[in-house]
Amino acid sequence: MSDSFAVDPALLRPFSPPPRLLMGPGPITVDPRVLRAMSAQLVGQYDPAMTQCMNDTMALYRGVFKTKNQWTLLIDGTSRAGIEAVLISILEPGDKILVPIFGRFGHLLCEIAERCGADVHKIEKAWGEVFTPDEIETAIKTVKPKVLAIVQGDTSTTMLQPLEELGAICERYGVLFYSDATASIAGNSFLTDEWKLDAVSVGLQKCLGGPSGSAPITLSDKAVQVIRKRKHVEAGIRNATHVDGKGRRIASNYFDLGMIMDYWGEERLNHHTEATTMLYGARECARILLEEGVDNSIKRHRIHGRAMAQGLAAMNMKLFGDQFHKMHNVVGVYIPENVAGEVVRSSMLNDFGIEIGTSFGPLHGKIWRIGTMGYNARKDPVLETLIALEAVMRRAGHSQTPNAGVDTAIKIYAEEGL
Ligand SMILES: Cc1ncc(COP(=O)(O)O)c(C=O)c1O
Repeated sequence: MSDSFAVDPALLRPFSPPPRLLMGPGPITVDPRVLRAMSAQLVGQYDPAMTQCMNDTMALYRGVFKTKNQWTLLIDGTSRAGIEAVLISILEPGDKILVPIFGRFGHLLCEIAERCGADVHKIEKAWGEVFTPDEIETAIKTVKPKVLAIVQGDTSTTMLQPLEELGAICERYGVLFYSDATASIAGNSFLTDEWKLDAVSVGLQKCLGGPSGSAPITLSDKAVQVIRKRKHVEAGIRNATHVDGKGRRIASNYFDLGMIMDYWGEERLNHHTEATTMLYGARECARILLEEGVDNSIKRHRIHGRAMAQGLAAMNMKLFGDQFHKMHNVVGVYIPENVAGEVVRSSMLNDFGIEIGTSFGPLHGKIWRIGTMGYNARKDPVLETLIALEAVMRRAGHSQTPNAGVDTAIKIYAEEGL
């Protein structure tokens, strides 16, 4: 009898990804040390080795976030899982939130907040610009939100929003201060406690040099108080000592930070089955970063980002956006008018094995985004990318001085002693 569900025998071969250098806005080529850490065997959920690994990971991420916050842990899922966990756990339907939008990921914060039933207030900047603290303070005075939610580095535009002064403003008006630092952490300064943040979420797939799939977060005591008021314990695991909070139950079970804290905390109250392999990877990302030193990592991203940006500019191309407020780890560059952007990107990928990024929304078809982050914030990937791009652009008809890009980058490296 023939098996109508038989699959094509070609599908029975293991997947073997082609070798690639990922020089887009993320994900990037994963640090081999992280891949090695992720190939370790599982241990059981309550094995002391596992709970120790969870506690160590919390401690390591306090170093990454520069915080003393006890509640610094991982949300299983990609970066938006971290965003969603924070917003659904803090916002109740009807709560006001202010979101300053300067790119795609500000829109994402609004979209998630709207799904939480929040009363979402937006202010917007043209893509390529950022907000001044005064603009944000004025909006806070008008809206009187419960939460200010703002992206630090928006990969869609490559811009870095200064956050230093916003914490004091939020404190003055009694507003909780949340930032999504997925794209910027470890490549640009981020000081959770000094800048008075109440909640921060990130991902591994940018400057932390890991794969997507884990979202480290940190919560201030103030944020934890708000969440604890909504405490709820699932029926199947609760006992007589558990008392629910008086506030409205958090609308998501998976992203209920109250229950997730109980799982990561001393009680080890079962919630989800921790994604052990991602935990190993996240732990290794933080370990590698702290071994290098956060400030050294930021400096490395600054140097390689500058070499890439100046190299591109020397190839007769124009950089996108306010260069003073650019993230160190990714640069936007206008696609020259006479050049077919997608033909160049596919030749970079198919002929050289190098991926560079396209762009979204109003910038689609106008700029490429080229990242120098995490494991790829190194001299060799930068020079390889510049050389390959010059060759591809020449074939695409772009006029440029031969070797100008790579020579400019080498000059910058020489200035930096590299
Ligand atoms: C600033 C920022 N926030 C959120 C995300 C969403 O991340 P994910 O695709 O991991 O859910 C990204 C992804 O590029 C990002 O750059």
